[in-house]
Amino acid sequence: MRSSLPPALKALLAQLAGAALAFGVGRSGLLPAGIWPLVTVQAAGATLAAILLRSAPWWRWIHLGFLPLVVAALQFRIAPGWYLAAFVGLALVFWSSFRTQVPLFLSNRRTAAAVADLLPRDRPGRLLDLGSGTGSLLRPLARLRPDCRLEGIEAAPAPYALSRLLSRRQPTVSLARGDFFQIPWCDYDLVYAFLSPVPMTRVWDKACAEMRPGTLLVSNSFPVEGVEPETVVEVNDRRHTRLYCYLPAGPAYRQKSGITGG
Ligand SMILES: C[S@@+](CC[C@H](N)C(=O)[O-])C[C@H]1O[C@@H](n2cnc3c(N)ncnc32)[C@H](O)[C@@H]1O
Repeated sequence: MRSSLPPALKALLAQLAGAALAFGVGRSGLLPAGIWPLVTVQAAGATLAAILLRSAPWWRWIHLGFLPLVVAALQFRIAPGWYLAAFVGLALVFWSSFRTQVPLFLSNRRTAAAVADLLPRDRPGRLLDLGSGTGSLLRPLARLRPDCRLEGIEAAPAPYALSRLLSRRQPTVSLARGDFFQIPWCDYDLVYAFLSPVPMTRVWDKACAEMRPGTLLVSNSFPVEGVEPETVVEVNDRRHTRLYCYLPAGPAYRQKSGITGG
């Protein structure tokens, strides 16, 4: 069930199941009068359905709070334009997160310093940040390694616009808007990912198909399932960041080793 239905469809089904349960229990006459008993049954039913549909754990909290918050908010009589504005704002920040299952959170300066140490020392390196967000990795990195070319690609419009604005005086940083799966990764010494567990297998497959031997794939916090990292860098920060460093086999290496496919 986990892989067969998209999470958004599971969420819709869970909400409908909760509504059907509330409708049934409401008609049976077992509930006290008023809106809140119905809302409570709907929320509990939706949460139970999410568990049965094996939605990710955070969905349980979303289903538990969704209808109670909607009903509570309606009682404040907020003008509908505010809901629209909040929706547009969140959509511009999170954009395709519902599909990619990669939210926005940011690398810190200590992580940028650790990544700076992974770039080639003897020559100017080239780095690609997959999903560069607001540029919070690239900007400190550009100060630490002014010799390197630092590139980022980001899907969401608002973080991308902010990253352009904040890095406008950093000529070694270049940013593009788009999908990182649609661009080649063969020209980089280091490809950096701070994503989520969901896309890591696809990231690994693309890295193996395109990255040159000896170049590094570095994943902040999310290891590639079933693949042993070459090294793990422990960053001395409050969240105990771990950088999983892989050496993906590029095409030449694969040919030499007689590996086919991928
Ligand atoms: C966790 S944030 C990391 C931001 C930044 N790399 C950092 O370390 O501070 C991940 C970003 O990847 C973006 N993203 C996810 N999938 C993407 C894709 N296929 N193409 C481009 N950006 C993507 C998301 O919009 C989000 O802003």
